[in-house]
Amino acid sequence: MFDRLCIIGVGLIGGSVARAARHYGLCKQIIGYGRPEDKHNLETAKKLGVIDDYYLQIEPALSSADCVVIATPVASLESIFAALKPYWSETTIYTDVGSTKVSVVKAAQQVFGEVPDNFVPAHPIAGAEQSGVEASFYDLFLNRRLIITPLENTSKEALNKVQCFWEQCGSVVSVMDVKHHDSILAATSHLPHILAFALVNMLGHKDEQSEIFKYAAGGFRDFTRIASSDPAMWRDICSANKSEIIPLLQQTREQLDTLQHLLENDESQQLLTIFAYANTARQRFLTQFEGNMSKSITFQVQPGGLLQGEARVPGDKSMSHRSIMLGSLANGVTHVKGFLEAEDALATLQAFRDMGVEIEGPVNGSLTIKGVGKHGLKAPKNELYLGNSGTSMRLLSGLLAGQPFDSVLTGDKSLSGRPMKRVTGPLAAMGADIKTTEQGTAPLYITGKSGQLKGIDYVMPMASAQVKSCLLLAGMYADGETSVTEPAPTRDHTERMLSGFSYPVTKEGSKVTINANGDLTASDIDVPSDISSAAFFLVGASIAPGSDLTLRHVGINPTRTGVIDILRLMGAKIEVLNEREVGGEPVADLHVVYSPLKGIDIPEHLVPLAIDEFPVLFVAAACADGQTRLSGAEELRVKESDRIQVMADGLQILGVDAQPTADGMVIQGGPIGGGVVTSHGDHRIAMSFSIAGLRANAPITVLDCANVNTSFPEFKDLVKRLGLDLVCEEA
Ligand code: S3P
Repeated sequence: MFDRLCIIGVGLIGGSVARAARHYGLCKQIIGYGRPEDKHNLETAKKLGVIDDYYLQIEPALSSADCVVIATPVASLESIFAALKPYWSETTIYTDVGSTKVSVVKAAQQVFGEVPDNFVPAHPIAGAEQSGVEASFYDLFLNRRLIITPLENTSKEALNKVQCFWEQCGSVVSVMDVKHHDSILAATSHLPHILAFALVNMLGHKDEQSEIFKYAAGGFRDFTRIASSDPAMWRDICSANKSEIIPLLQQTREQLDTLQHLLENDESQQLLTIFAYANTARQRFLTQFEGNMSKSITFQVQPGGLLQGEARVPGDKSMSHRSIMLGSLANGVTHVKGFLEAEDALATLQAFRDMGVEIEGPVNGSLTIKGVGKHGLKAPKNELYLGNSGTSMRLLSGLLAGQPFDSVLTGDKSLSGRPMKRVTGPLAAMGADIKTTEQGTAPLYITGKSGQLKGIDYVMPMASAQVKSCLLLAGMYADGETSVTEPAPTRDHTERMLSGFSYPVTKEGSKVTINANGDLTASDIDVPSDISSAAFFLVGASIAPGSDLTLRHVGINPTRTGVIDILRLMGAKIEVLNEREVGGEPVADLHVVYSPLKGIDIPEHLVPLAIDEFPVLFVAAACADGQTRLSGAEELRVKESDRIQVMADGLQILGVDAQPTADGMVIQGGPIGGGVVTSHGDHRIAMSFSIAGLRANAPITVLDCANVNTSFPEFKDLVKRLGLDLVCEEA
């Protein structure tokens, strides 16, 4: 990209820029520049091969450089610009790496009057507590964010080149306004540094400091790591951005006062509410913004083992979503028990918080939702990010189509590739205005059509509970009746929960009907365990000789029990015990013991009733005697991944004869070998291949398992406790 790169200030950041430029082949020659007192450091940089040469005078350092990176502390920028001014070249690109941008722009204005159009202010959000060129490394910027803050007159060409340079170094580049940058960084970087410095300063001055530090454990270390940063640099950064930092300090003080007050008055419930909110907010930001930058998770599964004992798997995902949605729209307070504290359901929870609903918890699966009534949602300030969750996006599209505000729904890479026309098509026929990408995928741009939706009589082309539920939610805001007819029974949690909240819905054969003449009355919800999560253990115990397992409090709604029917047809021994009804949903304990399985032709009517369980049923089929055939399941191709292809690929790697077809799979039972398979980020596939380990004759490595957290964060611990040798590795 450049012939000669000049780095002004070859410390941790400047040195790492040089190393990255060299590593990724972005320039031919690298020159360092520093003050006479930096000579020793520059000599070290040259010896380490970070730079090719250095100068202590500015003129030769700049000579024939086509890119200059200023990497000195922000407080020095004005003097650096003044030194550069006499040699400023129109054909060179200048950029910096300062942590505050308003001050950098001001320094440039001070020196040049107008900021030169070939200066591109930038800030790599990366660093380390160590400083100096010895601590520099080439991948400091890899997968880290970098913000460019161009001015109105910044040259497009210079901007593009700087952006390209950083992308080549592996950074994730965003472009924003100078002031916006400073206000964001004040909150996410400058304030936390001040708090860390303040805490260590306060504790350090206490008499018993050696006692305190001696017993300080991981939490103290984590919280105060950034107090090891360069004090002079942070003095400069904080001074440069004080106008953004001071109001935040005030808000922090108020927050601390609140916490103090709650402690003084023993208001432990309120304290819990604040901690629980912070806990989920942090979890959400980790998945939303660091998901694709974070470490990847691999499951290492040793062959053999059996499943024994008893367990209660987490709450039903479908019902957890719906409890938030209907609880929020109800009049009154809804208490939820058994809520699934996993990323998908938490995405729905956050979306409703973003629309002004007060929700306390979750704490151990318990939530309190302060319903705002059917017309009480508020416009979200930002897009609603729904992570990996198809249910959140499809159901919300129906609900939001008839609201008096606009909204935008986004999701992760997998969700952004899934078909949304199946909901936006019929919603458009109701008068909704929802824009998708050309491929009919998210983001969904919804223009609220309050009071303008019309009822529809819709015959669904595919058996989809999400489409049905989406249209029923839209129907609550539409003029006239909305009816949905399904080609085969699909899960009916929406209808049941609406009735539980006293909202009229009628069902005649395969047709469900709703209209806008109703209100939701808050009603407590007890979410049973998710049969889709129980399925991994039903299959695991069925295929591993010696297994004997009881799964407690599992939801056995007849629209969800296809997995039990299919496994029983294959010869599995599953007993349904203590059947009861909890909050309008049938619940039971499931007892399963090992039993040799045989291959079958899976009856097509069972497909929608076991739609999420096929990945693990394919593993059962691989362990069965003879051939198992699945057809009529083309829906599997558009789930979190193409579950037909991904499972067939993985099973083949494990030595199983698994042939994908357009709408299913043909699997010949036989021995399962070891190997390295990938889940393609699909939670159910990751868990299914782990379960295959129980019958494998060699270790199985399952790549890309982070998304198990979307539905079953406890899986790895639970499956280990029950008898599978699984180790979770982060890399
Ligand atoms: C769900 C419906 C099903 C299912 C999904 C959850 C729901 O999707 O696969 O995991 O909660 O309504 P489809 O409606 O697309 O079949």
